[in-house]
Amino acid sequence: MRLFLIPLLILLTACQSLPTDKKASESLSESELQRPDPHSLANFEDVVITHLKLELKTDFADKALKGHVVINYKKLNPDVKYMVLDTRDLKIRRVSLANDSKQQLSWQLGQAEATLGSALRIKLPEGEAAIRIDYQTHPKASGLQWLNPTQTATAKHPFLFSQSQAIHARSWIPLQDTPAVRFTYQAQIEVPSALRAVMSAKNNPEINPDGIYQFDMPQAIPSYLMAIAVGDLQYKKISEHVAIYAEQPFLEPAAYEFAKTEDMITAAEKLYGEYRWGDYDLLVLPPSFPFGGMENPRLSFITPTVIAGDRSLDSLIAHELAHSWSGNLVTNARWCDLWLNEGFTSYIEARLVEAVHGQQRMIMEAALNLQGLQKEMADLPEAEQRLSTCEVNLDSEDVFSGVAYDKGRFFLEWMEKQVGRADFDAFLNQYFDHFAFKSVTSKQFIAYLQENLMAQHADKLPLDIVNTWIYGPGLPDVLYVPVTDKFEVINDNIAAWHNGTRNLADIETDKWTTQEWLHFLRALPTPLDKQTMQQLDKTFDLSNSQNSEIAHDWLLLSIRYHYEPAYSRLIKYLTTIGRMKLIVPLYKAMMETDELQHLAQRIYQKARPGYHPLAQSAVDPIVNHQSDNL
Ligand code: BES
Ligand code: ZN
Repeated sequence: MRLFLIPLLILLTACQSLPTDKKASESLSESELQRPDPHSLANFEDVVITHLKLELKTDFADKALKGHVVINYKKLNPDVKYMVLDTRDLKIRRVSLANDSKQQLSWQLGQAEATLGSALRIKLPEGEAAIRIDYQTHPKASGLQWLNPTQTATAKHPFLFSQSQAIHARSWIPLQDTPAVRFTYQAQIEVPSALRAVMSAKNNPEINPDGIYQFDMPQAIPSYLMAIAVGDLQYKKISEHVAIYAEQPFLEPAAYEFAKTEDMITAAEKLYGEYRWGDYDLLVLPPSFPFGGMENPRLSFITPTVIAGDRSLDSLIAHELAHSWSGNLVTNARWCDLWLNEGFTSYIEARLVEAVHGQQRMIMEAALNLQGLQKEMADLPEAEQRLSTCEVNLDSEDVFSGVAYDKGRFFLEWMEKQVGRADFDAFLNQYFDHFAFKSVTSKQFIAYLQENLMAQHADKLPLDIVNTWIYGPGLPDVLYVPVTDKFEVINDNIAAWHNGTRNLADIETDKWTTQEWLHFLRALPTPLDKQTMQQLDKTFDLSNSQNSEIAHDWLLLSIRYHYEPAYSRLIKYLTTIGRMKLIVPLYKAMMETDELQHLAQRIYQKARPGYHPLAQSAVDPIVNHQSDNL
């Protein structure tokens, strides 16, 4: 199971909220489902934000962003009297006309709702004069993590980063927090003079000794791509369009690890048209970053846990880069159509990995992902096995499952194989151009597909099979199953070892890649007794693996089969890494093992303060921790 895929509801409800009038676990009500975007309270069908101008100061002592935002908007309905914005846990100080802050506007902050936050209702002035909101964030804002110096690589300075997807931008900016609305932005951010601010915008690599940083984002983006980070960040340009921002100790390792990024951009442009965002920089975050990566435009946010030393985990970069087309350029209009972002992106990721690392690696990753998806789907109710979940009255908590990613990806691969690469590539290229800077629904995609690909290939892409992929449960049996000799060789080795005809030490592992190790660990016969675990560890030094993915799979086995010599590594791992995909399965496995529940709780007690609010909300219920969030 692709376990970074933490249920959306957890993402939505992390760190909620002041007094709630609705239980977090409830599904969306009928009236919520009727909204144009069930996850936003904004009246964006009547009035839309067109531009934001932020002026914020980072106060590390108070753990707050303080300042104001100026909002430009356009009335779609000339009679609209109010603008409703999304907020969560914001302290609103005043609302006024932008060019005359003495002219206050009347406003009202609604009751906090568990999943959605509080609606900020502002009486609009006559005409379309820009408005200004003075506000500050809460220290536990769900979209921000404030790190103490000890949680950073150099342990000298504090660090701040945002994570706005899916609906956390509202916890640091009052705005229309829906992927259906796009706006441009400018920002001025004031930080302590030893630190540097970066944003999902044009970044100026010059250090500003006065601590004031200016940003301009000329391309319109949806709110979930608003991003900021502040820290002791060094800068290194590594190729024509790519630079790394990282704390000093990560700078050179990241420059080596991500050296293929420029080639990935070249490959993507060849397939899907011009990269439209200017530069493509990478920000390496501290290890508590709760995801692998986040596709913030012009500046992807990246976990340091993919710095393996051999570029074997850089498909994450291919993925985040791919979002520059699928997601950032053409965006799902609602989160129930997430597959239009993540499924397309996972498909493009595979194409880019194939282009820069070759077909073998791409197929090995596909095979690992398919295994994971099948396992995950076996535990999902049918309604959550669909690509598009908008039609069903379903808890939207699971839209971020492997279904959107991998089922989406295999659907696109199926279409590609049916019509041939040349036609499919041309179709996608044209699709990105046609819907550039727009938001789309599954229905719109299908209509476009019918007109521009199915019409020419009616026999190869029958509508009923397309519909089965998008609206049906499970995996259609037309799926192309990825098969690779590399894994067959491993299976043969395991079988020979298992029946006693080969020693572990005689298996040729010298040239194994990360993907082969992962397959090996997942294909081992179970259960494994302690002696066998010891033998594996002695032969391959697995407890000391510095590869975060291999270590993760080994620790999972160690928990499952009570292999105590690995526990010190387990403790170190869980107290230094906060990436949900890597930590959640380990806590789960410990809690499923009676003898290890206590250890899980002890480790968590130590690790929790260093985790991101989202990771805390994901792990709290697993280890039965009483949440103290807000
Ligand atoms: N947009 C996602 C990260 C995300 C997921 C944010 C869910 C909020 C909620 C990003 O593009 C992503 O998918 N990251 C993956 C990368 C992997 C599939 C290569 C991750 O973080 O592991
Ligand atoms: Zn993604």
